[in-house]
Amino acid sequence: MYTVSNIREWLDKAIASLVLPKEPDGLYAPASYMITIGGKRLRPMLCLLAGNLFTDRIDQEMIMPALGIEIFHTFTLVHDDIMDQSATRRNRPTVHCKWNTNTAILSGDVMCIAAYQHLCQANPAYQAEILRLFNRTAAQVCEGQQLDMDYESHPVVTEAEYLQMIELKTAALLAASATIGAIAGGATAQDAARIYAFGRWLGLAFQIQDDLLDVFGEAGVFGKNIGNDIVRNKKTFLLTLALQQAAGKDKTLLFSLLTGKQIDPARKIEEMLDIYRRLQIRPQVEARIVDYFGKAMGELDNLSVAPDRQQYLRQFTENYMERTQ
Ligand code: IPE
Ligand code: IPE
Ligand code: MG
Ligand code: MG
Ligand code: MG
Repeated sequence: MYTVSNIREWLDKAIASLVLPKEPDGLYAPASYMITIGGKRLRPMLCLLAGNLFTDRIDQEMIMPALGIEIFHTFTLVHDDIMDQSATRRNRPTVHCKWNTNTAILSGDVMCIAAYQHLCQANPAYQAEILRLFNRTAAQVCEGQQLDMDYESHPVVTEAEYLQMIELKTAALLAASATIGAIAGGATAQDAARIYAFGRWLGLAFQIQDDLLDVFGEAGVFGKNIGNDIVRNKKTFLLTLALQQAAGKDKTLLFSLLTGKQIDPARKIEEMLDIYRRLQIRPQVEARIVDYFGKAMGELDNLSVAPDRQQYLRQFTENYMERTQ
């Protein structure tokens, strides 16, 4: 059994020695840039920590799919930043801003291929199952991203619609990351299903935290521009609650902010923030995050793995409960 820092060290080494082709530079330089400028590495860590619940063999056949997942995730970020018109990511300029949109599209595409090249190096005994899950997940991420875009122009989005959207765009990949590790570690189907449920709750909590940090986070720590979701009319959990709860003058103001054509972005952020404060949205959002983290941890209680063996995955997960980045 390995500690979180053991696993982190191996992962960092594997990422540092990742080899992408050099030419054409215009294609591969942006891919290397995005992969090497940082990121929390949550998904590959979940993969390896979940794998380590079931086996002590954290070898290349487990690390390769973990890398593939991180490369895939980074690819989705490159395209997401085009779609969301985001200028900053991981505290650095986004690929489409540093280069241009066409470069970001194509570099993203080649990263998706690189992701598969790594996933295909999983243990052949588990290869088909891993790819089946991964393919389903990759399609779900696209479906969630489509809903996310569609909802920008919907005046109202219900909580159920919001949850379905984040389940697809975010929770599916966290769930699959942990489950791929579990499968590669030889988990039973029942344990793999519990790990999936754990990752799903964690993923829902994680996206709700992301929505919260987009409003209340600190730019230099969070690594992204604050308030972008408000400017882009993203149907975040905060906005979903505000749409349910606003009445009277606040309701009128909310709809005028959402439909107004040429509102100054700074003013829009400020006024939306005032509405969130008046409706006390923040504590409600925090309560939901705690609830979903609790549900994630609860799934681990049902695993057939001894509690002692679960300590590092639990410790790692707990550290995310009050994240600021
Ligand atoms: C960002 O993911 C996209 C979301 C699902 C919220 P992360 O917050 O894991 O981004 P990095 O990898 O650490 O940059
Ligand atoms: C991202 O959701 C989900 C992806 C699949 C990339 P967001 O659009 O909220 O992610 P950030 O805030 O840009 O990282
Ligand atoms: Mg997005
Ligand atoms: Mg985005
Ligand atoms: Mg976000």
